[in-house]
Amino acid sequence: DWTTGNVIDEQVAAIRDQVGTKRAICGLSGGVDSAVAAALVQKAIGSQLTCVYVDHGLMRKGETEQVEKDFVAATGVQLKVVDAQERFLAALAGVSDPEEKRKIIGREFIRVFEQAQAEIVAEAPGDQPVEFLVQGTLYPDVVESGGGTGTANIKSHHNVGGLPEDLEFQLIEPLRKLFKDEVRMVGQELGLPDEIVQRQPFPGPGLGIRIVGEVTKDRLDLLREADAIAREELTAAGLDRDIWQCPVVLLADVRSVGVQGDGRTYGHPIVLRPVSSEDAMTADWSRLPYDVLARISTRITNEVADVNRVVLDVTSKPPGTIEWE
Ligand code: XMP
Repeated sequence: DWTTGNVIDEQVAAIRDQVGTKRAICGLSGGVDSAVAAALVQKAIGSQLTCVYVDHGLMRKGETEQVEKDFVAATGVQLKVVDAQERFLAALAGVSDPEEKRKIIGREFIRVFEQAQAEIVAEAPGDQPVEFLVQGTLYPDVVESGGGTGTANIKSHHNVGGLPEDLEFQLIEPLRKLFKDEVRMVGQELGLPDEIVQRQPFPGPGLGIRIVGEVTKDRLDLLREADAIAREELTAAGLDRDIWQCPVVLLADVRSVGVQGDGRTYGHPIVLRPVSSEDAMTADWSRLPYDVLARISTRITNEVADVNRVVLDVTSKPPGTIEWE
């Protein structure tokens, strides 16, 4: 019988068996999946686990602070924060192809984890080796990265198809057979607070796959502002639980003519992509109230420099995917 209790018991036993007395690290992204995976592994092996949060500079406004504060407060895990902004930006310089971006981000994540591994060992040299990497990979991530049987590769999720071939870690992926709603139930059962368990999904590669075109610091800052406005207005309108997620996308390679004040502008469009979904395998575009859309549009064009147009994505999945890259 499928119950969250059974899933937890089974996974805890399997993880203890796999890890023994050795140590593990877990990449935290701020999202639901990695938080639940971390809490599950912590239940199994306690202080043999260290969580690693990689600040790759592709996060949304306030996200790093949230992980540092909320997650640690909720679970008491040992947390190591790595500032890897320069490293990711350098690796992504000049790259516009979506799959290439995804593979670079997946690879850089692993390189940072390896560095963290070395540091953890150096800090406590006599201790057991750090051989395991915990990931919050879900069933749909595996399927859509071409890891399921007979399915086409749609996109390389950073923690599946984006892994480098010379991976030295053994993977622990306790959520690999679960869908998002099941993961949320497991998280709840493990005692994680609603702010973590009910969070809308956000992809590990972050804003890096929401800039159509090359990823640069300036573009990230611009998109962070636009995204923060959209989130603020959706929350204020009480719509957080009605929508599955709302990617905000910068079309960095597109410009259009506008007029602001009494001058001509030649700026970028921002795309709003609100969707409703059960498991992200399929989705429909959310019919948001026009007044909420109007507020978001007015604020973004007024408050974000270089953006003179806001457009709404009214495509379901299929044929569109939820993210643009
Ligand atoms: P798509 O764009 O394939 O997205 O319709 C389906 C769901 O997966 C999320 N997503 C990712 N999550 N790493 C993640 O952790 C990734 O590389 C990744 N790519 C997409 C996306 O936000 C949506 O919820």
